[in-house]
Amino acid sequence: MPRGYFITFEGLDGSGKTTQLRRLATSLEAQGHTVTTLRQPGGTALGDRIRSVVLDSRTEAALGTISPIAELTLMFADRAQAIAEVIAPALAAGHVVLCDRYTDSSEAYQGGGRQLGSERILALHAAVCDNLQPDLTLLLLPPIDSTLHRARRRNTRHTQTHGTDENRFERESDDFHRRIYAKYQEIAARDSQRVVTIDRNDSIEQIHKIIHRVVSERIPSSPSPIPASILEV
Ligand code: TYD
Repeated sequence: MPRGYFITFEGLDGSGKTTQLRRLATSLEAQGHTVTTLRQPGGTALGDRIRSVVLDSRTEAALGTISPIAELTLMFADRAQAIAEVIAPALAAGHVVLCDRYTDSSEAYQGGGRQLGSERILALHAAVCDNLQPDLTLLLLPPIDSTLHRARRRNTRHTQTHGTDENRFERESDDFHRRIYAKYQEIAARDSQRVVTIDRNDSIEQIHKIIHRVVSERIPSSPSPIPASILEV
């Protein structure tokens, strides 16, 4: 069975990863790859419901405090559904899968930010995701102060224009975000083969060029051409 290529994007809120994911999808498609994109939480109908529960800062007024473990297992329920419905079939069909956040986010946010530790997250990953690992993780980790500032500004704007509110995590303290940052650094040091860290505060275009180069070195620039003999039949 052909196996596609699995790339995840990671970073703090406001790190610019979503913009970079879209840019990479466009350039890979232009090279002839079939690209599947999704985000976590979300990316499936069930995942979108989970997303609105875990990200909306009004959830706690409606449902009460979500315990860190409940939050973690909701993230994994979302991920299990995304693997079954989107990621595994796309990889089996030979697609390049670009996923905006994956298990590293659970390790950084719930393991680091909520202080649940890494072990529990890695054990859940093995049990729930059958240890499906990305082939490559692009970790956007510019200096934390600029990232926090950008994320808060953007979410205020989003709430004003869309009327929806995805601020539950952004409302957390700076210490919470510093723990996430430190956990990401720990993951990158541990999984240095898989994780490529981009820690520069460069323009969108410059970062895209770096990402494009890293990805091009790892996957062929286009799928193997169909031999002329087959085309002539
Ligand atoms: P996202 O939509 O990627 O927001 P942004 O574009 O601002 O980065 O992320 C959703 C939020 O969910 C983000 O604050 C991180 C959080 N999250 C976790 O806490 N654990 C997880 O496992 C995942 C996937 C996301």
